[in-house]
Amino acid sequence: AMIDKGNHRHFMQKEIYEQPVVVAQTLRAYLRRMENEVAMPDMDFDLGAVKRITIVACGTSFYAGMVAKYWFEKFARVPVDIDVASEFRYRDPVLEKGGLALFISQSGETADTLAALRHARAADQIIAVVVNVPTSSMAREADLLLPTHAGPEIGVASTKAFTCQLAVLAALAANLARAKGLLTPEEEAEIVWHLSEGPAAMNEALGHDGDIEAMAHLIAPARDVLYLGRGPDYPMALEGALKLKEISYIHAEGYAAGEMKHGPIALIDEAVPVIVIAPSGPLFEKTVSNMQEVQARGGKVVLISDAEGIALAGEGCMATIEMPKVHPLIAPLVYAVPVQLLAYHVAVAKGTDVDQPRNLAKSVTVE
Ligand code: AGP
Repeated sequence: AMIDKGNHRHFMQKEIYEQPVVVAQTLRAYLRRMENEVAMPDMDFDLGAVKRITIVACGTSFYAGMVAKYWFEKFARVPVDIDVASEFRYRDPVLEKGGLALFISQSGETADTLAALRHARAADQIIAVVVNVPTSSMAREADLLLPTHAGPEIGVASTKAFTCQLAVLAALAANLARAKGLLTPEEEAEIVWHLSEGPAAMNEALGHDGDIEAMAHLIAPARDVLYLGRGPDYPMALEGALKLKEISYIHAEGYAAGEMKHGPIALIDEAVPVIVIAPSGPLFEKTVSNMQEVQARGGKVVLISDAEGIALAGEGCMATIEMPKVHPLIAPLVYAVPVQLLAYHVAVAKGTDVDQPRNLAKSVTVE
């Protein structure tokens, strides 16, 4: 079928705006709202017996895997190894029989990820695949197929596939925790409830598009930009930096907020904007103290937080972007929206080809 941009200027913008709907659609496949339960497709192996998970992916899909590592370890207490696919195959990974190898891919055709899947298959791993194209090679080779229901993604910069991956991975983490006997029905109901809040919160995040567009000119002239986050928001910093690099051609790096003082803080001056991803919550204070280290050295900060966080730490920032207050579980889904929009508006301000950035292919089918 022909896919058009509708009222949108670019496919990327359309796909960013589709997220509340497609994430809700994806969650419907993995949550039973009435029963307050998470659910998975039928499996011919015992999920509760999984002792180790190996996650392999590339690019944005890899960052979704990094977020999932926090969830699998926190909720299910299962140790997780994670690698980019191009490294995984060549490091001779230790894969004990019966381990779960989890591959994450929008296209299901990324050559490095597919080769890694076959490597894991040969090492007797159970193969689980989170994939957006249900007819893809990876989908066909999976023992456990976990589709994202994002619909076709046209923009080279992945947006809606990423947040749908996060939705599936959060549900998988909860299923694993339940299979391990680590979730009470009340805790499971709470997870279902928090995840169900995701789409509305993402919609609210989209409501701040105008503010983000208005501040894009502060970032567009920069040569370098740093993104900082902690915990599950650290991969969001990496994702924010990747989005900006891909479509605006501005050099950007994501860092764990606490790592700043171990080197990158040497880069700080008024010409390097620092985007701080810091929802209020258990990690907020620590991240803010890293942010203040940046400000003390003349660094210009854009703080992305909720009203509470902005009230506490927004003073002295170059700009703030307000998000709804959300449970930490869904923060990565919600905070994906402003980092995508920021990259998008900076790219539009610079006049780059947003949907087809130079040198990039939508799916990398060569190793
Ligand atoms: C994301 O914006 C990129 N274009 C790229 O990093 C992408 O996520 C990566 O190539 C993996 O693709 P896949 O999800 O189709 O395997």
